[in-house]
Amino acid sequence: MAQGTTEAGVSRRGFLTRVGATGGAGAMFATMGALGLAPSAEAATRAPFEPPRASDFRLRGRAAAKVAVLGAGVAGLAAAYELGKAGYEVTVLEARKRVGGRNLTLRGGDRLAEAGGATQRVGFGKGTYLNAGPARIAQWMTTMDYCRELGVPLEVFTNSNADAYLFNESAGMAAPVRWRTAKADVYGYVSELLAKATDQGALDGRLTATDKERLLSFLSGFGAIGGKADGFAYKGTDGRRGYSVNPGAADTAGTVLGPVPSLSDVFAHGTGRYFSFEFGYSQAMLMFQPVGGMDAIPRALAEAVGHGRIRTGAAVTRITSLARGVRIEYERDGRARALDADFCVATLPPHVLARIPHNLGAGVQSALATPVPVATGKIGLEYRGRWWEDEERIYGGITNTDLDISTIWYPSHGYHGDRGLLVGYYNFGAAADAYAALDHAGRLRRALDQGAKIHGDRYRRNIAASASIAWKRQEHIEGGWISWPSRGAAYALLNRPQGNVYFAGDWLSHEIAWQHGSFESARKVVTELHQRVLRS
Ligand code: PHE
Repeated sequence: MAQGTTEAGVSRRGFLTRVGATGGAGAMFATMGALGLAPSAEAATRAPFEPPRASDFRLRGRAAAKVAVLGAGVAGLAAAYELGKAGYEVTVLEARKRVGGRNLTLRGGDRLAEAGGATQRVGFGKGTYLNAGPARIAQWMTTMDYCRELGVPLEVFTNSNADAYLFNESAGMAAPVRWRTAKADVYGYVSELLAKATDQGALDGRLTATDKERLLSFLSGFGAIGGKADGFAYKGTDGRRGYSVNPGAADTAGTVLGPVPSLSDVFAHGTGRYFSFEFGYSQAMLMFQPVGGMDAIPRALAEAVGHGRIRTGAAVTRITSLARGVRIEYERDGRARALDADFCVATLPPHVLARIPHNLGAGVQSALATPVPVATGKIGLEYRGRWWEDEERIYGGITNTDLDISTIWYPSHGYHGDRGLLVGYYNFGAAADAYAALDHAGRLRRALDQGAKIHGDRYRRNIAASASIAWKRQEHIEGGWISWPSRGAAYALLNRPQGNVYFAGDWLSHEIAWQHGSFESARKVVTELHQRVLRS
């Protein structure tokens, strides 16, 4: 055939697809061999299979005709994208009306339906958005590589901010404190104690004389504590607590924020419990977000996959693995339909898959029923004005609290603009369930009552619009993410193909609740599937 005139890339893929459509998989394999894509030994030496790198993932060699991908979340779209690059003919079935799955960005004009509840009409102004699902990306994550490859522009997401607050009401704190203040006090008193113990010889079994000297020198700077003559006391006079009157010109040295709480109060307030969060591999600054909303990622993926290959509103009703291939039955526009393919990559949440009839056996069924869905929810509060910047000097970052809102997020973009959106709660477990049980108006009231304990009455004023999500009440998703009681036999089983069906998703990775986990799982499955095709 037109071997010499068929160039690499889209035209070759289109050509192969046409061959696949008319001649079936066998004809397609033969044609690919002729094109040098490769079942022959000669082609294999020219274009050896390369294991995936972090980006520019390319599968080389012979490709299968057809793969049915279930779910157009990040895992499903990534699988379809990579298979598409390698020349596979992919069809994605998505039960929801739009792609992205939990990667959902809400904007003005959106409608958000809720199982057993009212549909919210999102009334945000132009340019305002709420990342209702994923909202932050660590630099090491594969998500960054896909943003680069797909041309998704990024900006810094401020995950920790010394000027945001900490407030533990149940610990008897009278008022919120800034992160910087809490850190100064906790590091200060811990340093004082450790310096005293070191100096008094309590650690002599562990420390040489030189170790002690070096440790004391470190603690002096780390905790801003006094010297030996002062008993290494933390006085909190160092400016790191913050200032009630800022340093300025000439004689204005500034007034350091006081009074300094006692050591006992500092530990009683429990602010130190939040510090380790930002040490985590996945949560440490710098972090990033796509400019304009996280859904830039699924939008770019869907674009690259091709909208013609994605069927939304298509709810899977049965999965059958056959001796050769798979048959996927689904419902679309109230009509029963079927899709036949060589392989299936199922990326639906396990608890949703567990309700879909299949012939993969009792072991698979009980494995799918093993992970436990985790509740999470968010509310977005759009304000006319940005009082957190103008009046409280908070430009991005997160306030943490033991109130049931857990966190308040300040936007990491649009500084000094006319409007801005705060995340008024982002909580998990029981707190998320409590908000999920309310209608939107109830959630809003409760979130404002709680947030006002931190920000005062201005928190209730000038709200232009709000929207909330309870992930357990999102149809076809039914949870924020899952947790494995243990990553045991069930996890191992579903990480292996079952007949011609592969499973993928963040729930089959070691980074659950991160897009990174979805990408990694999709890449692993696509690689395995392709290697199997090469062997067949
Ligand atoms: N990735 C989500 C987030 O950053 C959920 C998560 C939270 C996962 C904390 C791990 C740790 O909020």
